[in-house]
Parts: sequence; C-alpha cells; structure tokens
Amino acid sequence: MTKILAIETSCDETAAAVIEDGVFIRSNVVASQIDIHRRYGGVFPEVASRQHILAIGTVIQDALIQARTGWNELEAVAVTYGPGLAGSLLVGVNAAKGIALALNLPLIGVNHLEGHLYSNWLDTEGKGNPPKIKFPVLSLIVSGGHTELVLMRGHGDYEILGRTIDDAAGEAFDKVARILGIGFPGGPAIQKTAEGGNPSAYKFPRARLKDSYDFSFSGLKTAVLREVQKFTKVDKMHKPEKSEQQQLRLNGMPTANIAASFQMAVVDVLVDKTKAAADKYEVKEILLAGGVSANSLLRNKMMSSAGRPVRVPPLYLCTDNAAMIGAAAYRHWQAGELVSQDLDVKANLRLA
Ligand code: KG4
Ligand code: ZN
Repeated sequence: MTKILAIETSCDETAAAVIEDGVFIRSNVVASQIDIHRRYGGVFPEVASRQHILAIGTVIQDALIQARTGWNELEAVAVTYGPGLAGSLLVGVNAAKGIALALNLPLIGVNHLEGHLYSNWLDTEGKGNPPKIKFPVLSLIVSGGHTELVLMRGHGDYEILGRTIDDAAGEAFDKVARILGIGFPGGPAIQKTAEGGNPSAYKFPRARLKDSYDFSFSGLKTAVLREVQKFTKVDKMHKPEKSEQQQLRLNGMPTANIAASFQMAVVDVLVDKTKAAADKYEVKEILLAGGVSANSLLRNKMMSSAGRPVRVPPLYLCTDNAAMIGAAAYRHWQAGELVSQDLDVKANLRLA
C-alpha cells in the first residue's frame, strides 16, 4: 500500500490529494479561485500566486484529514512542476519541498499534462475496481492551455502526434465567450448558451491542416469575431460592458446560434482528427482529458463516432485537481524516478 500526497498549483486551483497505489482516491481537495478571477475575465497571475499562498496550508491539511492519513503514513510527496504559471507553480513546489525535507520523503515531479492523462486511471467509482486500460491508447488532452493528441504504448511512453499551432481548445472557448460577452470560464458558458441554438446556423471554418494531426483555432475565433462585428461596432477583442451586451441583444445578435455553431466547429475538428489518428495507429481505446473534455457535445460525439471504447473522467477530474498528479506520480515512483530538492519549475514545459 503506497500513499502519495500530491499537490497541484499550476493555474488557478489550489489542490492536494492522497492517492493510494496510483488509483485509489483517498482524498481530493480543490480550492478554486474562479470567482476571484471572474471579475478580470481571465486568470490574473499575480492574484493567483497570492491565493495559492493563502490556501495551500489548509488544502494540504484537509487532504490528509479527509484521507484519515497521518504524515507518517506517506510514502512520497508529488507536485506539478510545469507547465503553468511560474508564480503559481512555485507555491506548490515549495510546499512539496518543505514537506519532503521535513519528513525525509522522496519528491516526485509531475508534468501537468501527464497528470491530465492519468486522470483516466483513477478508481472514480470508489468500488475498489480501477479501470483496466489496454495499450496502445490515444489520449486527447484539451485544456485551457493545451490541445495535444498523445499516443501511449505503455506507461510513461508518450508520442505527441499533434498539438495546437495557435490557441488551445479551451482558450478558444474562453476567447469566444468573451467576444460574445457571456462570461468566464468560457467553456461552460458557451455550452449552456449553445443549448438554445442551432449548430448549423453558421458554417464556421474547420482548420484541417492537411496530413497533420495538429490543430488551429485562431481562424475560427476570427470568423466568430467578424460575425459579432456585424451587430456592433466592437472592433477589438475585449469583454463587452453590460451596456454593450444589452446593445448586442437589442441589435438582434443570435448569440445562441453563434455559440452552438462555434462549439460544433471545435468539436468536429477534435473528433475527426482523433478518430483518424486512432484508426491509423490502431489504438484499443481513446482517452479524453483536460477541462474541455467536460464538454458534453465533445463527449457524446467522440463516443458515437470513435468506433472503439472512449473513456472520459468524471467532471471533477476533467478540470485541474491533484488526484491526477498522484496517479501519474505513482508510475514514476514505481519506476524509481524521483527528483531531488533542486527541482525547479518549468513554465513552458511540454509533455514530450
Ligand atoms: O484543465 P483545465 O481546468 O485547466 C488547464 O489546465 O488549462 O481547463 C480549463 C479550460 C477552460 O478553458 C474552460 O473554458 C474549459 O477548460 N472548459 C470547458 C468546459 N468546462 C471547462 N470547455 C468546453 N466545455 C466545457 N463544458
Ligand atoms: Zn489542466
């Protein structure tokens, strides 16, 4: 029985978890800063670091209490060291180093994207029956900062088949929500607005980037902006003020149709490319991960068209959390891949 304390502070969630044998979630505590950042229309890095400093101690203590685990029962401490906001990462890495130093425990550094990947290995039903995933698998990581198509032939064996060449999928959702003036974070706001809209109302562009598994969403974002401009004088990307939003409605902008058509365009490209890569590499399963995998259209379309099992973490494991970091850390622990106290943060790190 190996209990790992995992810490995650790469963006705007302060999170800690106790994970047993890489799959059993003994606790999973997340303190979200979303309400604080909402007023800025996005994550404000300086504010994020300060909030992590305020929350980290309590979050870690809560994780141990909820797991009914004493400090002396921990086998290792794991922490996200990148990619993410440098100031945010520093808080988690320092906390993990302090604990490892004080308790003389091994330290495990985890790549945030690797964490998202491993969210699919967790025993989410709590029935002691973790998923048995068959390799090779293809994972689509879609978050606020990343869009990556990763082929995994075994644990820790990653081949990046494609990634975004401009905006990440979640970033596109966030920017388009801002253009439409419907709130932050953009993903859930667009999904909700799209419910009342017609996804075929607009033929927004789908960047296929021939013969490649890379993605591009900036053309789509510009196409939405052009459409919105027909109803308003807004000529740059900014969050419309309340009065402007009212004006847009008065001008009859079909916000729901635009949101639904945009969402469909993003999902079409994500599903088509994932399916093409899954066929080519003859993978046994497809795994979705990251904040955008919370999107119900993406989940449903992927499941109905992938032609093989599709796994999606429950919503609370799609967005940032420390349970997934503990799951990935366990594989490093098994492989003896520990890091020393000179672990640094890497804000722009990639998975492979
Ligand atoms: O994985 P995550 O919590 O943080 C990063 O590592 O970036 O992902 C956050 C992103 C945001 O861009 C948010 O708009 C998006 O996930 N998101 C969604 C949905 N829920 C969250 N995008 C589309 N549909 C959703 N339901
Ligand atoms: Zn993330």
